[in-house]
Amino acid sequence: MLERALFLAVAIPTAVVAAQGPDATAQPDAPRREVLMHRLLHDCGSCHGMTMKGGLGPPLLPDALADKDSEGLAGIVLEGVPGTPMPPWKTELTQEEALWLVERLKQGLTP
Ligand code: HEC
Repeated sequence: MLERALFLAVAIPTAVVAAQGPDATAQPDAPRREVLMHRLLHDCGSCHGMTMKGGLGPPLLPDALADKDSEGLAGIVLEGVPGTPMPPWKTELTQEEALWLVERLKQGLTP
């Protein structure tokens, strides 16, 4: 009985990850996506502009980011840019979430 319980405890989370496919692990779930998008508009938007056209921070529009590496941009989001107003967000966001936000920015936010 105990063995079976242990088997389930290990097998179920593994099966869930496998069922979502390799890149689905970078997808926050739907309620978290809403929180992240709200944050993007309000927290990030306070410097980068509500429409990401730039302000105190540079524009985060698809054209501005197209040539930049997503992992590198996610690193900036997590670590900030020392000596500039860009703060680190790693206490608020996971690596996957930062990457997900960067991908949203690269696609362009639909109004
Ligand atoms: C207090 C102001 C401020 C806030 C809030 C802020 N940023 Fe920034 N951000 C900046 C500044 C200033 C830079 C430019 C840093 C530099 O000079 O390299 C920057 C740079 C960036 C870059 C790199 C852009 C590029 O083209 O290399 C990304 C990506 C970015 N921010 C994303 C975000 C995200 C996502 C959030 C919200 C989670 C956020 N920022 C919140 C000020 C801010």
